[in-house]
Amino acid sequence: MSRAAHGSGVLHPGEDKLPAMTNQTCAVTKAVIPAAGLGTRFLPATKAMPKEMLPIVDKPAIQYVVEEAVAAGLPDVLIITGRNKENLISHFDSVPELEQTLQNKGDNFRLRQVMEASELADVHFLRQGQPLGLGHAVGRARNHVGNESFAVLLGDDLIDGRDPLLRRMIEVHDAQQVTVVALMEVPPEQVNLYGCAAVEPTDEADVVRITGLVEKPNPEDAPSNLAVIGRYVLRPEIFDIIEGLEPGRGGEYQLTDALNHLALGEGERPVLGVIFDGRRYDTGDRAEWIKANLLLGVEHEELGPELREWLVGFVKSLA
Ligand code: G1P
Repeated sequence: MSRAAHGSGVLHPGEDKLPAMTNQTCAVTKAVIPAAGLGTRFLPATKAMPKEMLPIVDKPAIQYVVEEAVAAGLPDVLIITGRNKENLISHFDSVPELEQTLQNKGDNFRLRQVMEASELADVHFLRQGQPLGLGHAVGRARNHVGNESFAVLLGDDLIDGRDPLLRRMIEVHDAQQVTVVALMEVPPEQVNLYGCAAVEPTDEADVVRITGLVEKPNPEDAPSNLAVIGRYVLRPEIFDIIEGLEPGRGGEYQLTDALNHLALGEGERPVLGVIFDGRRYDTGDRAEWIKANLLLGVEHEELGPELREWLVGFVKSLA
């Protein structure tokens, strides 16, 4: 990728190397949520609706992700959007006529639910411009993020709020001022769906040092069965690395490739992985999305009892 293409003026004439790393201590205050994907796997449902707006039980998937960022202490959220994302943007707006109607009816429960998304966080939007891959989407956040560490949350991975992964990752970042990537063990035959990490142990049981990363390897070439799940705490150096990237897998600029540069020592600091063994729901795949709805549905305060009872009978009818 041409560094000049981003127009952020990082390189000066004659300069062909990445600038030296800073020793700055960065607190994490911002979250970036790439949401520019076309949702091809969910067609035709996503023909005119963003995949991030597909509901999980009774809330659009994107709302869970914003809630997770806020719960981890990051109320400044930048969502990178693309074509057909108008509904997603509207979801975070207030709707005065609807709110007034609910208020007139005295339906305070629904009123609270409707207002929740617009009051949740300080949500900003930026268009990706061109669909050039996850690395490119994250690179677009540069001006908003500035020279700070920040979190990236991918909407296809839903992390259960009872297992706070991002908070742990920020804790590891804050203690050591390093880049942190979430990893999870997956069956070896599924590594081709993920970024995959080569790792070494550290003194902490749930933390590993990442020595290499490869985007969606064939199972026989994979360095491990530790998959990158969609949570990252990145230092601002990542932006220069992204701007120097060559197209990777699928001809796209891959975030995994940028992280691999760091892991291989292009940065002065190690890249750490936090190994997650909590509840994660894959909402980017149709069958997994249905499972996520059932898993969270049976635990829903209002809907759970009815769903549970029906499911028990339904499962018997399948036997
Ligand atoms: C992206 C990343 C991949 C990561 C995955 C997690 O892939 O490129 O490294 O493992 O998210 O969900 P995608 O699923 O968007 O193709």
